[in-house]
Amino acid sequence: MSDSAKLKIGDQEVELPIIKGTESEKAIDIRSLRAQTGYITLDNGFMNTGSCESGITFLNGEKGILRYRGYPIEQLAEASNFVEVSCLLLNGELPNKEEYDSFNKLVSSHSKLPASFNEILDRFPKDAHPMGVMASATAALSGFYPELLNPELSADEQERVFAQLMGQLKTIAAHFYRRTQNLDPVSSDPSLGYAKDFLNMLFHGQGKDIDDDVAQALDVLFMLHADHEQNCSTSTVRVIGSSHANLFATISGGISALWGPLHGGANQAVLEMLEEINQNGGDHKKYLEKAKDKNDSFRLMGFGHRVYKNFDPRAKIIKKACDTVLTKLNVQDPLLDIAKGLEEEALKDDYFVQRNLYPNVDFYSGIIYKALGIPTNMFTVMFVLGRLPGWLAQWKELRDNPANKIARPRQIYSGHTERNYK
Ligand code: SDX
Repeated sequence: MSDSAKLKIGDQEVELPIIKGTESEKAIDIRSLRAQTGYITLDNGFMNTGSCESGITFLNGEKGILRYRGYPIEQLAEASNFVEVSCLLLNGELPNKEEYDSFNKLVSSHSKLPASFNEILDRFPKDAHPMGVMASATAALSGFYPELLNPELSADEQERVFAQLMGQLKTIAAHFYRRTQNLDPVSSDPSLGYAKDFLNMLFHGQGKDIDDDVAQALDVLFMLHADHEQNCSTSTVRVIGSSHANLFATISGGISALWGPLHGGANQAVLEMLEEINQNGGDHKKYLEKAKDKNDSFRLMGFGHRVYKNFDPRAKIIKKACDTVLTKLNVQDPLLDIAKGLEEEALKDDYFVQRNLYPNVDFYSGIIYKALGIPTNMFTVMFVLGRLPGWLAQWKELRDNPANKIARPRQIYSGHTERNYK
């Protein structure tokens, strides 16, 4: 295969280098295009545009492959845990026991919030959407750690902020939830694993023993959400990070991007859709027709993906976990049957088959969160906690390369040409 591409514009011909990744993905390097031709490229939604070279996560949408630092997601979900996967994403290699224990301890030791911070959380209305609380509280943390606003953090300072954000965002989520339930906050218990500790911080004293298998299922969900290459919120983190803004502001931006119903907010939208179908007699075929109707804004939430044109490997794992968790908790949820019915019908329907629309990570996750007693408006907060190490790893990769420039796309102007002011 040639290592360059030729582009002919009028009677000008330019040669552009071709870049090939370790999984044989190919890109035309257009960094010299404008200088050579005066032309830019235009690509709404960046459907054909790579923003970076990255060694963190590999997706193959056609084959339904997802690997973190080369390890298949199926193997990690089976045998690893969320803190170990976080170390893998952040450092590029699986941690040895000492590295694992040290990071785990750092996360626990930084799970506390600053003394006066709860006053900020107490100022939110109890019916505020938890994603708005998470985004603003994360940015507000910057007011308490001026020493961490330095854009050039040392490696040790970076590791501390990474662990601190993983600990404190878990605490913010749990504290705000308990406030909405008029319950006192519960501190992190370092003797529990990350997921079990979070469930304890949510539900302690509410007569719910935290079942180990249930905590394990949540840990797997966090692992499955941990990174996903250049998705909308990760790209947002990279864009903000490219201006050398501090990490609190950067992660707050990622949370805001994830909130959208086309992205992380879909897990809440899926549950609301399933509940609507259930309240309307459970006729999922009617809703499939609505999803196909171009004149109807209804979409089958939890279906479709920009990259996966085959099954989302995470959806397969979560679907299996649904059955395990519901059986373990002895929960019969009609919404799971409706979800399975929707999937079965959609996968036989030309509209979905022709557009390669399959269940994505958000289609079944809400069923498990609901069974765990997580309120629907906190489902996307669970996505935040899971995706956080991925955002941090991608930010680190961006900042570790001094050649990375500030993100500043071009445009094609389509407005008024010059006119005089009267
Ligand atoms: C996540 O990028 C990531 O990696 C994201 C994520 C991650 O881990 O970070 O995987 C997490 O965000 C998963 C996606 C969650 N969102 C949803 O479930 C919302 C519902 N899905 C869609 O809105 C849509 O599928 C997207 C947003 C996920 C992808 O949108 P694209 O790639 O821009 O595709 P599109 O909107 O151009 O759709 C292509 C066609 C269109 O029909 P035509 O114009 O060709 O006739 O498929 C149709 C769309 O109308 N279509 C759907 C549909 N999704 C696409 N029709 C009905 N229901 C749907 N869900």
